[in-house]
This record gives sequence, C-alpha cells and structure tokens, in this order.
Amino acid sequence: MVVMDIYDVMRTTAAVREYTDDPLPDEVLTRILDNARFAPSGGNRQGTRIVIVRDAQTRNLLADLGMSAAKRYVAQLRNGEGPWNPLQPCGVDAETIAAVQVPRDSPLREAPVVLVVCIDLSVVAAFDQDLDRIGVVSGASVYPFVWNILLAARNEGYGGVLSTGVIAEEPRAKELLGLPEEFAIAAVLPLGKPVRQLTKLKRRHVAEIATVERFDGQPFGE
Ligand SMILES: Cc1cc2nc3c(=O)[nH]c(=O)nc-3n(C[C@H](O)[C@H](O)[C@H](O)COP(=O)(O)O)c2cc1C
Repeated sequence: MVVMDIYDVMRTTAAVREYTDDPLPDEVLTRILDNARFAPSGGNRQGTRIVIVRDAQTRNLLADLGMSAAKRYVAQLRNGEGPWNPLQPCGVDAETIAAVQVPRDSPLREAPVVLVVCIDLSVVAAFDQDLDRIGVVSGASVYPFVWNILLAARNEGYGGVLSTGVIAEEPRAKELLGLPEEFAIAAVLPLGKPVRQLTKLKRRHVAEIATVERFDGQPFGE
C-alpha cells in the first residue's frame, strides 16, 4: 500500500464515474472502511451503516431507481433551473421529464462494488430541527464518513462518486436492501479503479469563499 500525502489526496479526489475491469478486493475495501470509520458524528453516536453491494442485479436495480432523479436533473438543467434545488419549485412537467434521455448511464452498473451509506435517524443530533428552513445538520453525522471513504479509496488508487439520485426513490431502495424504518440513505458510492484520474479539480479560490469577521467582510487569503 502506497500512502499519499494527505493534501495531495484532498486536492485530487475527483468524481470518478468510469472504472476499469479491475476488482476492488475485500481486503482493500476493509482497509478503506477501517480508516474511514474515524470520521466524527454528533455526540459520537456513530449511526452510520454501510451496505456493500457487489451483486450485479442489485446494482442494476439501484441504477434503475436513480434514473427518474437523473431525468429530472437533466430536464431542469435544460430549462435553466437549479436541478433539485429545494428552494425552487420544479418548472418542468412530468411528461417532459419522462421523455428525457439521460446522456450518461449510471456508474452503479459497471462499478465492481457499490456502497450504500445509511444513517440511523434515531441517533442523530440536529440542532437546526426547529428552524424554518431545510435541515442540514443531520447530514453532518454521516457525510464526514462518506467523504473519508472517498479519500481513503483515492489513497488506495481507487475512485468513486458521491451519488444521491437513488435517494429520490428511497422507499423502494430501502425495501430492496432490507433497511429498517429509522434509517435514511445518505449516499450511494460506486467504487472501482478509475479509467482516468483527474488531478486538477475546478474549485473556487479561498478568497472567493472566505471572509473576515462578517459575511460581507474582507475576502480572506487574497
Ligand atoms: C451532495 C452531493 C450529491 C451528488 N450527487 C451526485 C449524483 O447523484 N450523481 C453523480 O454522478 N454525481 C453526484 N455528485 C458528484 C458531484 O457532481 C461532483 O462531486 C462534483 O461535480 C465535483 O466533481 P469533481 O470532483 O470531478 O470536480 C454529488 C456530489 C455531492 C457532494
């Protein structure tokens, strides 16, 4: 195992959606999860559970479940909307969405392994639960773990993508995988050996996203 510099890993963990035929052995996956599990969670309640899916039929069924979300995503994009934005109603009708041909097939079909990362909602702490806005804090008890998995996979020479389309059909996905009532699906991660590894990611500079003392303060790090 080659250990990369942590900053190199952070700067080059790209969304990987195409995989070679190389397997991702259980031994490597064990190492990925054994390191990723040190992610934090609210109150250290550790409500994250991971279903490891290798079975092709299950991966294809999950891919099929993600298609309706992908169609709406593409339809809204074509209509100049922010796709699936919870503050904007969808301005595209169901018939138009259904007719969309999604340009790229789901990476879940070809990946040697798909991780379905779930969170036990009965143990999360969500300090924003009484606010009149979309909840974000519950996710903070699972997404550090999710991102750790992708960072660890990169460190091992593998790659994947944090995908969420399946979650639009969560009840059917939960039934397929036998998830208990109190669990939510947070992410679906196809993982495999990247066909190509991008190393220059497009991200905003620090001065564009950080300000001093106040939101309207001086840009930081100019
Ligand atoms: C919350 C979240 C949801 C995402 N959902 C999907 C998804 O459903 N399907 C997909 O292909 N990529 C999904 N992505 C991946 C993003 O498109 C990707 O991380 C982003 O475009 C940056 O890509 P890059 O690292 O290659 O620059 C998601 C990423 C995040 C953080």
